[in-house]
Amino acid sequence: MNLPNIDDMDVKGKRVLVRADLNVPMKDGEIADDSRLSAAMPTLRNIIDRGGRLIVIAHLDRPGGKRDMSASLRPVADAIREGLNGTSVAFAEDCVGPEAEDAVRDLAEGQCLVLENLRFHAGEKENDSGFAQALAKLADIYVNDAFSASHREHASITGLPTLLSSAAGLLMQKELETLERLLAEPRHPYVALLGGAKAETKVPVVEHLLDRADSILLGGVMATTFLQARGAEVGRSKVDDAQVEAAKQLLERTGGAGAKLMLPVDVIVASEMSAEAEGRVVAADRVGPEDMILDIGVETIRRYADAMSDARTVVWNGPMGAAEFAPFQRGTHFLAAGIAERTQTDDLVSVVGGGDTVAFLRRHQFLHVVSYASMAGGAFLKWLAGEDLPGVEALLKAG
Ligand code: 3PG
Repeated sequence: MNLPNIDDMDVKGKRVLVRADLNVPMKDGEIADDSRLSAAMPTLRNIIDRGGRLIVIAHLDRPGGKRDMSASLRPVADAIREGLNGTSVAFAEDCVGPEAEDAVRDLAEGQCLVLENLRFHAGEKENDSGFAQALAKLADIYVNDAFSASHREHASITGLPTLLSSAAGLLMQKELETLERLLAEPRHPYVALLGGAKAETKVPVVEHLLDRADSILLGGVMATTFLQARGAEVGRSKVDDAQVEAAKQLLERTGGAGAKLMLPVDVIVASEMSAEAEGRVVAADRVGPEDMILDIGVETIRRYADAMSDARTVVWNGPMGAAEFAPFQRGTHFLAAGIAERTQTDDLVSVVGGGDTVAFLRRHQFLHVVSYASMAGGAFLKWLAGEDLPGVEALLKAG
């Protein structure tokens, strides 16, 4: 993919507007996980080191087009100041208008300015041209380094490249190059593991991978949705109702669940999802009306592990159950351990994406072992489903 990139741009003395993905999880006003921030730093350093006047724009959470100080980027700006130690890092309380314009005027070569959350303005999500112009006015060059937000047609993602000379940042390039290298023509057997709390973004992945992967193993809400589509009782389990019809069609296309599209044959159920809950293992067709499916069962773990035993590529998005609670993390943990071990000792390429999956692997010390962990959730799934990412398309057009 021939994206214009920052190394080809002369940034010295220029105002460079970098769209980063700094959507980090926050807890009590503190950054709970700084992976995305660390991943964004190389591009920021690159521009500072080359004498650019760096302006960072990003979103945090979904404040709905209104100022909501619980979603302020100020703590993130403080962390950037720490990361760029020795560099002046200012913060402006708005991303457009006089406050931002004055702060940009004060910005010297090799200095950094972080602007407040783009999503405090409805124009960001609406891809409003006036809002995009107000942002463009601040800069000479636009850099998109937010692969993980590039599935959004927002002003800072698709509006800005139509208004400014544009390039891809280092993280954007790395994400695209690595996914392309490892997954565009994956080594076979190729196995996909899809779980998590949502099915909407993963059903298109199943559709796209049916002719490309050797096995697709389902857990989480993907599994409950497909079990319901097959006519099974799933009790009080979370199901993505809007996806049941699509799931039915995919089951018809594969002639039902089998080696290609694998569904749990047994599950862990409980009456509540909590750390104190007591899970029981039952056959997947014996779930009671009061039960909630919260993990895959022992026999399913064995079958899934078996399906992966000779895989040469595994792609994974979404835990197998409610893995944030100890009683329901066994399936996810067991499969993670197997993938980690085979990546280390065998010839397995493992690629993971999605906040919950990456967080789980980090918590259990498996993350450093996998071949590649994408910073993206939704964008990673769109890429896996073979869809174009509007932000990447916009850069291609600009180039
Ligand atoms: C993400 O967290 O996946 C990206 O930052 C995009 O965030 P969004 O889903 O709120 O658009």
